Amino acid sequence: MKKLFIAFFAVMLTIIACKHEILSPTTNTPPIIIVDSGNGNTAGNSNTGGSTPNDKVCFNSQILPLYQGYCGSIGCHSGTRPAEGVDLTTYANIMRGITANNPSGSRYFTILTGKMPPRNSPQLTAAQIAIIQKWITEGATNTQCVVTVCDTTKFTYTNSVQLIYATYCNGCHGVAPGSANVFLGDYAGAKNIAVTMQQQLLNAINYTSASSAQNMPPGGKLSTCDISTITNWINKGTPQ
Ligand code: HEC
Repeated sequence: MKKLFIAFFAVMLTIIACKHEILSPTTNTPPIIIVDSGNGNTAGNSNTGGSTPNDKVCFNSQILPLYQGYCGSIGCHSGTRPAEGVDLTTYANIMRGITANNPSGSRYFTILTGKMPPRNSPQLTAAQIAIIQKWITEGATNTQCVVTVCDTTKFTYTNSVQLIYATYCNGCHGVAPGSANVFLGDYAGAKNIAVTMQQQLLNAINYTSASSAQNMPPGGKLSTCDISTITNWINKGTPQ
């Protein structure tokens, strides 16, 4: 009887200890490199490398920056001691809570329409949630898209900069006042920063800031095309 009790106690302890353990990792599949032959510039996808030639979602340019920016902010799900042991800044770690082809069975997807991001943090838009859902339905692969043809005629806020900021920046700068008082969540805010902090902004996106903590986005440099799009927009007088 005593032995049984000890065994029961040991099992209970294990259950309690595991409560906050991260979900088990899935096998690390090699990245699929898809060279985007310009499709990323078609309507609605801007220059952020959206949409592969066969219209699949690009993990590197459409999904990863959302998790990095909206969930992986400093002090939340990133770094050496991420909140709840949940790190959301790499493909392998994101896949711990995603089940391919099954959005409703993917905890890191369903939570986006529930508890996370916390209510006073910038929220993902319905369109961004739909892109994540499409990616999971397509098999949640580590699709890597590279923009090889950059459409330099697209440089207004509405037809390109807005999407770049929404994807890569607004998880931290999307709700006023924004991280470091940099608010990029609408045209007026984006224009204000482009005018009043022009040099800091250019240094930040070119990764030439005085301190590496000021290089933006923190998760990794934008594509050459996105950098030139923002630079063009500034040089043309930040048109709406
Ligand atoms: C994960 C959160 C996060 C994301 C995503 C992010 N930023 Fe930041 N940003 C910060 C923080 C934190 C600071 C303050 C850094 C410091 O001063 O050490 C900052 C500072 C800045 C600054 C001021 C830099 C300076 O020299 O003072 C600019 C400009 C900026 N961000 C623009 C952007 C742009 C543009 C993007 C997207 C391309 C972006 N940020 C994405 C968190 C973020």
